Amino acid sequence: MEALKRKAAAMALTEVRSGMRLGLGTGSTARHFVDLLGEKVAAGMDVLCVPTSEVTATQARGLNIPLSDLDHLDRLDLTVDGADEIDPALNLIKGAGGALLREKIVAASSDRMIVIADQSKRVAELGRFPLPIEVNRFGLGATRNAVARVLAAYGADKALTLRGEDKGAVYLTDGGHLILDACFGRISQPEALSRELLSIPGVVQHGLFLGMCSKAYVATPNGVEVLER
Ligand code: A5P
Repeated sequence: MEALKRKAAAMALTEVRSGMRLGLGTGSTARHFVDLLGEKVAAGMDVLCVPTSEVTATQARGLNIPLSDLDHLDRLDLTVDGADEIDPALNLIKGAGGALLREKIVAASSDRMIVIADQSKRVAELGRFPLPIEVNRFGLGATRNAVARVLAAYGADKALTLRGEDKGAVYLTDGGHLILDACFGRISQPEALSRELLSIPGVVQHGLFLGMCSKAYVATPNGVEVLER
C-alpha cells in the first residue's frame, strides 16, 4: 500500500515546477509527496510551500523545504493532498488525520488541487467513510445535538462520535477544536448537507470538499489512474 501511495505522489510531483507556490497536504500519502519534494528541493528546485498541519510543517522543515503562510502568500499555484474518499465527480471526504480546516483553507487559496491516493479511496458515492465535522469546544453539547438532528434528517445510520472520547482523551485539532465523526453510509445530497452543517454556529468546518479537486492520481497495482474533471 505504501508503494502505491508513493507512486501517486511521484505522479503529482511531475506537475511541480520551480517557482511554484504549493500547498502541502497532510496524511500518509501526502507525506510521500513531501518526502519526494524534499529530494527535488535538495537538488535545487525553488518552491515556497504552505503546510496544512503542524505535522507536515515539521516534516517539511526537516527536509529544508521553504515554508510560508497565507498571511504572506495570497494565492498558491497548486495544493497536493490525500483524501479519505473520492467520488466520480472528484468530490471528497477528508479529515481522518484531523487537518480538514487548514486543508480546506489552503485548497481554497490554490488555483488547483490535486489529490493523491491509492485505489481503496475511490467510491461510487460519498459516505461510507465517517464524515469529520470540526466543532468549537464552547457549547459542545448543543452543537452535538444540532449536528445529530441534521444527520438524522440526512439519513446517518450510526451514532455521532466525538473523536478520542472512546480512548479517554478527546482529539484536538491544530486549531484547538474538537472533531465529531458522523457515519452516513451514503451522502446523496452533499451540497445541501454542507450548507446545513455550516449553518450550525458551533460547526467550524466539515470534511466534504465539493468542487475543489480538479485532478486525482489514483494508484492501482496496474498503474496510476488519472481522473480529471
Ligand atoms: C488529513 O486530515 C486527511 O484529510 C488526509 O488527507 C486524508 O485522511 C488521507 O490520509 P491518508 O493519505 O493517510 O489516507
